[in-house]
Amino acid sequence: MTAQALDEIKIGGLGASRKRVEDNRFIRGKGNYTDDITLPGMLHMEILRSPLAHARITSIDASKAWDIPGVHLVLTGDMMATRNLAWMPTLSYDTQAVLATDKVRFQGQEVACVIADDPYIAKDACEAIDVEYEPLPPIVNPMQAVAEGAPVIRDDKENQADNVIYNWEVGDAAATDRAFEQADMVSRLKLHYPRSHPSPIECCGSIADFNRATEKLTVYMTTQAPHIIRAAVALVAELPEHMIRIISPDIGGGFGNKVPVYPGYVCSILASILLERPVKWIEDKTGNLISTGFARDIYLDGEMALRQDGKILGVRMHCDADHGAFFSDAQPSKFKIGLLHSAFAAYDIPAAHLTARGTYSNKAPGGVAYRCSFRVTEAMFFQERMVQAAADDLGMDQAAFRRMNFVRDEDFPHRTPLGFLTDSGQYGKCLDVALKAVGYEEFRKQQEEARAKGRLFGLGISTMTEPLGAGNSREYDILGIKMFDSAELKVHMTGKAIVRTGARGQGQGHETTWAQIVSHELGIPAEDIVVEEGDTDTAPFGMGTYASRSTPVAGAAVAMVSRKIRAKARKLAAHLLEVSEEDIEWELGRFYVRSAPDRGVTIQECAMAAYSNMPDGMEPGLENTAYYDPPNLTWPFAVYIVTVEVDPATGVWDVLTTVAVDDCGVRINPMIVEGQIMGGLTEAYAMANMQFITFDAEGNCIGSNYMDYLLPTAWETPGFELHSEVVTPCPHHPIGAKGIGECAAVGGPAAFVNAVIDALSGTGVRNIDMPLLPDRVWEALTYRRDVSGAPPVRSDD
Ligand code: CDP
Repeated sequence: MTAQALDEIKIGGLGASRKRVEDNRFIRGKGNYTDDITLPGMLHMEILRSPLAHARITSIDASKAWDIPGVHLVLTGDMMATRNLAWMPTLSYDTQAVLATDKVRFQGQEVACVIADDPYIAKDACEAIDVEYEPLPPIVNPMQAVAEGAPVIRDDKENQADNVIYNWEVGDAAATDRAFEQADMVSRLKLHYPRSHPSPIECCGSIADFNRATEKLTVYMTTQAPHIIRAAVALVAELPEHMIRIISPDIGGGFGNKVPVYPGYVCSILASILLERPVKWIEDKTGNLISTGFARDIYLDGEMALRQDGKILGVRMHCDADHGAFFSDAQPSKFKIGLLHSAFAAYDIPAAHLTARGTYSNKAPGGVAYRCSFRVTEAMFFQERMVQAAADDLGMDQAAFRRMNFVRDEDFPHRTPLGFLTDSGQYGKCLDVALKAVGYEEFRKQQEEARAKGRLFGLGISTMTEPLGAGNSREYDILGIKMFDSAELKVHMTGKAIVRTGARGQGQGHETTWAQIVSHELGIPAEDIVVEEGDTDTAPFGMGTYASRSTPVAGAAVAMVSRKIRAKARKLAAHLLEVSEEDIEWELGRFYVRSAPDRGVTIQECAMAAYSNMPDGMEPGLENTAYYDPPNLTWPFAVYIVTVEVDPATGVWDVLTTVAVDDCGVRINPMIVEGQIMGGLTEAYAMANMQFITFDAEGNCIGSNYMDYLLPTAWETPGFELHSEVVTPCPHHPIGAKGIGECAAVGGPAAFVNAVIDALSGTGVRNIDMPLLPDRVWEALTYRRDVSGAPPVRSDD
């Protein structure tokens, strides 16, 4: 390092806890969200939704709506059908009704749309539409879906004689059978991960603007994946792709909710084409909760073959997934139940077998990966609940049982029994840090003492590694589109730069961290770099931001394109310094002559030379694009430990401590990483404690508003103690980073639930399904029995 070398933290490079640049506009109320946009001549669209969960439509009379002054268009399923748009393909090779024609299949389904001068007229006109329904029996869970004589929900599909969507399996059934034959004992667990909703602050919406003169369609919309939407619009609406521009402005939270294509988007686009005016659709909160992509809603059942000394010999797992009325999960094509088979990846288990069955029900479709890599949340929840049950059955210490079965540091790369390749981690070290932080031995003593006085303390551990960063393109595609990403970097002549990616942040801080990666690679101060995402006319192609894939894939592309720029800058430096390239050394922000370190040129000087003094024959300019296809997923590891006290009189439980040890490899921005972990733990606490969407026997959605669907505020949310001591760089990511965005939401719920179950130890209670509402905990404790199923469904129903 020469005397002129830059201080990387000072310039906002890798490892700098740089304040989020996007917050300058967010905290001043200067964000630019879809609903902030007003275009000249813009009309407004509202949707009429079905009040019933399952019914045949016998007639739709929209004449009164058409008569209301200010109404420009009423769209119904029949009109959509004349343009072949009544149905659209889903991300899971199924079809989904855009506007219902034959039947409604869930409460809240889109039946008609009105486009009017303002949203109030449109809403009134929706109410003037007369729809006659003939009710059909609703199905609200997988057990009803496969029951003898169940009505077929998808009778629109040829050859669909029942409600089963798929049967899928992975793993080695025979080897797993052998493991169970050799077992000293078998531990079993059955649970339900309730339906939940990502519930971002901003609901979904779009403004479609078709210009007949230019034949160009511009759509401003709340999407986490603008390029995928552009391709979908081109294919579904049969419009030329280069005449479609998708702009995803600021997004007020996505969490997976803004990945799918929703009927509202399609209808606003068709309305704009028909009316040749911009058409805005902004969903209300109830519409968002009852009709857009839900998450989870699966029943998991498994058993673990154990040796007396604590070694896990094998695992069997079965999953019944309730996909709602249309199979529209956003997930890689190959895997019917997402990446559920990442379960148990942290443990060295010789054999495993997973079976999954997907069924239709009269509930909203979606199956989005809510802050999750395609069912990884359910996988890790089941894994850590099962591990706790097995350790308890063996009478073994929870920490010792995990440690004994962890994949060891020297065993990487490790092939999991369900087929993934994990490549790095220090699981034991992370556990040590967490146990020390929580004062494990001391807490166990206090727990014993407290119990003698009638007080119930509990400690729950959750340890997990999860796959973040789909692709690679060999194994991961969505509807055949391979999963990779790209980044474009333009360095202007004064050394300032703009970087664009095909990702689309929704609050994660990409505008801050992508600049830090460029800064790390080129030594350009982060404040001299602007980041832009979300406009398909300017951003290079990408699969979007979800499943914590941005840093592993788009972030890697940012590093790779910076390296291409550095390679060209090196040639410019050699020219400026009048030496050959081989004689040049690089240090942050500067090339210098190896034999004379004081003779050097900065990256900014190279940038100027690219426009003013390039060598003969060199293409001018300093810009490039890199496509990045990751060799593997990234595998962060985490330990979450929660301690609680349960009040035996009321079933209320209070969190005493939450310790989080996250190893996400190299942290680009430690402060942002901590924010991601705190947000994830808050959502984990919400899932464990209060949050669920359920349905009554008629299929009415309970959880359609924030009185029923509870979000934790700062008041309820406990404090978190975060640890960053363990850093295992990702061996294949250019800067050693692994994803982090969803880890705590994925691994956290089991820690909270395990803590409550631990507090109840000795009562025979093995399971209380989430959310652990006080009455359910009280019931379990008082009657010494498991409480299963989604409230208000009771265990004995
Ligand atoms: O795909 P998404 O942005 O939701 O998740 P992510 O890639 O895990 O990143 C979430 C945020 O944390 C981004 O701003 C990342 O750049 C940042 N991050 C980081 O600073 N260091 C890491 N090792 C991983 C993510």
